[in-house]
Amino acid sequence: MADRILVTGGTGYIGSHTAVELIQKGFEVVIIDNLSNSYIDTLDGIEAITGVRPAFAQFDICDRARLQAFFEQYTDIRAVIHFAACKAVGESTQKPLMYYRNNLNSLMNLLDGMLQYHIPYIVFSSSCTVYGQPDVLPVTEQAPIKPATSPYGNTKQICEAILRDTVKANEGLAAIALRYFNPIGAHPSACIGELPIGVPNNLVPFITQTGIGLRPCLNVFGNDYNTPDGTNIRDYINVVDLAKAHVIAIERMLRHKSKANFEIFNLGTGRGVSVLEMIQSFERVSGRKLNYKITGRRPGDTEQVWADPTYANQELGWTAESSLDETMLSAWKWEQHYQQLHPERK
Ligand code: NAD
Ligand code: WQD
Repeated sequence: MADRILVTGGTGYIGSHTAVELIQKGFEVVIIDNLSNSYIDTLDGIEAITGVRPAFAQFDICDRARLQAFFEQYTDIRAVIHFAACKAVGESTQKPLMYYRNNLNSLMNLLDGMLQYHIPYIVFSSSCTVYGQPDVLPVTEQAPIKPATSPYGNTKQICEAILRDTVKANEGLAAIALRYFNPIGAHPSACIGELPIGVPNNLVPFITQTGIGLRPCLNVFGNDYNTPDGTNIRDYINVVDLAKAHVIAIERMLRHKSKANFEIFNLGTGRGVSVLEMIQSFERVSGRKLNYKITGRRPGDTEQVWADPTYANQELGWTAESSLDETMLSAWKWEQHYQQLHPERK
């Protein structure tokens, strides 16, 4: 019998790509998602790629009674990957309570359920945002955690602390927190990808939406930073590469290979790329000129951050394999596919 993995937030961007990789590795997947930031059609995309439609339960994990009923129904879950969260940095500064309530309560409810139903393993979606602007680059897992610059970032720091303390208090529980750098791109089939609702905040969907004519112009937020071309530098990681790391993390725990009950890994490429280099990559793979202009800095932006992924490379045997152009092309194909499906979108 295949091991059953619970994927919360599994119709979302990273969750759907991870569901695909899990299914392709022979795992049985069950998804919980309240569809607050994703669409049910994502299940069609997962099925188109894998030939398998994962089990799906639509509800809010903050609803303890509903979660309890779910665990009563699925009694053979071996591990949890917890993606479900609110994730927009800007929105979190406007609606901090919504972020604290959703991101903290969902994790605590899950952990309660896992303890009650003896589910021993959890992989948690953390973020490079916990490092702020690091003093030393590239950033290793040992870099100090800086005071959070947004309520969203603070929820990731608090969630890591909740995991650390809960695992410490419960011998039967183990956790891996994966600190993602900047996930981008889509499945190469273009059957699933990122679905920003409304005007995107993130760079790559804004680039591809500008490229396809949905937005008139990309604003580049500042070219007066202390970087080679003056624009910000990030570590953009292919979402399929990222998804594969989750499968490895799950296998690590199922096979008792973890070195500690709570482990943390940076997931990045180890390569810093500037905003202008991202635009150049888009222009190369799409054959189109991108309309952009330099505007003022975006408040709160970190100047430059990229990962030292050595620990994940060595311990997980995982590396980010895709090239930037390959990844950008996948994002562009997904944008074109989505535009065909939804020409009415704004
Ligand atoms: P996403 O919004 O596409 O996916 C999250 C999913 O969770 C959505 O489908 C949403 O409907 C669901 N959800 C949210 N709250 C829920 C709740 N209470 N109950 C049930 N479902 C709920 O986001 P994503 O980009 O796939 O991110 C996944 C995780 O990775 C999040 O925890 C996010 O904070 C983290 N992360 C994302 C990035 C990034 O840039 N995308 C970077 C670092 C970390
Ligand atoms: C990338 C670069 C912008 C849009 C965010 C979260 C972080 C993590 C990943 C979850 C920056 C520039 C962007 C635009 C631009 N998420 N940019 N014009 O800010 O690195 O990280 O997503 O954990 O917590 O903060 O990603 O894609 O928004 O920006 O010039 O229209 O692109 O200034 O330098 P960011 P991003």
